[in-house]
Amino acid sequence: MSDLRGRTVLVTGAGSGIGRAIADRFAADGATVVCADINLESASATAAALREGGLEAFAVEVDIADENSVARLVSTVVDTTGRIDIVAANAGIMVEGDILSLSLDDWNRAMTVNATGAFLTARATLPYLMESGQGTLVFSASTVALAGMRGVAAYSAAKGAIAALTRQIAADYSDRGVRANAVAPGAVRTPLSESQFRARARDDAHFDELLEGVIARYPIRRWGESPEIAEVVHFLGTSRSAWMTGQVLPVDGGLLELR
Ligand SMILES: NC(=O)c1ccc[n+]([C@@H]2O[C@H](COP(=O)([O-])OP(=O)(O)OC[C@H]3O[C@@H](n4cnc5c(N)ncnc54)[C@H](O)[C@@H]3O)[C@@H](O)[C@H]2O)c1
Repeated sequence: MSDLRGRTVLVTGAGSGIGRAIADRFAADGATVVCADINLESASATAAALREGGLEAFAVEVDIADENSVARLVSTVVDTTGRIDIVAANAGIMVEGDILSLSLDDWNRAMTVNATGAFLTARATLPYLMESGQGTLVFSASTVALAGMRGVAAYSAAKGAIAALTRQIAADYSDRGVRANAVAPGAVRTPLSESQFRARARDDAHFDELLEGVIARYPIRRWGESPEIAEVVHFLGTSRSAWMTGQVLPVDGGLLELR
């Protein structure tokens, strides 16, 4: 456990999957957690569940791909808590397709939400992270930022941009009190991954078969769970990782080691 009482943690994509688990993890240490999501209803559900457990959280609507929306989010957070100490820039979308099957719109959507969204979130929060003195940014990249996978060209390019951005922020801001790292999750059972395989599956049996096919490629023969990613985001976001910056850390059941 870390004592994060009095600290503000901003989590984007906190309405679902990994982001919800990240919000839970930081709130458990006493932080005030800002649950930000494009889906306000789901972000509010995450925050309400935390408050019911006696923890500190509130929800804010944001579209991370929209500069003005991100600016509004940051001013709401600072007006409410007076600070931002840890940012889990986690919101993202899956866009499937190889180069020849991707439209320009698909490409732009993948880049705008995933890569530009990470940039806008970092740029808007960095001044407050510097002010914090122990500011940290933790991005949600992916194993596809580090190794190829079939059929996800734009998503992979966007996650690669996030990995590079992580290193750049570390290079430019580590001597100003801000560390930047990223997690690179393998396959984690969330609405994002389930909808990806639902879209490919002919029927329920084929869906189960596709899920089994994923597991077969992992040395640890199972899907990852959101809290297992959140635990590493918490490690990278707190002083437990005080001498780490610029790292893109696989949390992937051994997938990348098997290649
Ligand atoms: N699930 C996996 O297997 C996996 C693997 C590697 C990386 N990731 C990454 O982890 C992150 C979380 O993924 P997840 O599986 O929990 O997905 P998810 O779909 O369950 O949750 C993503 C959340 O982000 C929100 N969101 C989407 N677009 C947004 C926007 N423009 N502005 C604000 N919020 C927005 C969604 O409403 C949703 O609540 C993503 O960046 C994803 O790319 C997931």
